[in-house]
Amino acid sequence: MALMNWDSKFSVRIKEIDDQHKKLFDLINSLHDAMKAGKGKDALGKVLTELVDYTVYHFGTEEKLFQKYGYPETAAHKKEHDNLKKQAGELKSKFEKEGGVITIEVMNFLRDWLNNHILKIDMKYGPFLNSKGVA
Ligand code: FEO
Repeated sequence: MALMNWDSKFSVRIKEIDDQHKKLFDLINSLHDAMKAGKGKDALGKVLTELVDYTVYHFGTEEKLFQKYGYPETAAHKKEHDNLKKQAGELKSKFEKEGGVITIEVMNFLRDWLNNHILKIDMKYGPFLNSKGVA
């Protein structure tokens, strides 16, 4: 069973963003599958890098929308993104330093941060951006 399953409760009602969130779910599931299959450092590292890079790209997409439409909670949201980017960078360094191991604790951490960020933080901009005609 997949570690993360997207359903409508995760929808922020903006197609581009929902598609990006779905891709993040897929990347976390790919990493989980690779871990379970006992893949080596190179294979795991490749998925982990893709996940971290796509996360940075995704945060950039949201921040551009915030800037374009003057979202009033931009600063607080961007701070959350900066914290998550820092944590992702630390996770990657730890992975490199500790011989390329991904544990179930790491997977649970990734699952929880994506869940919490979408449901508690991203969800707030949905109605604002919808009111500006972004859907
Ligand atoms: Fe979907 Fe704020 O990240």
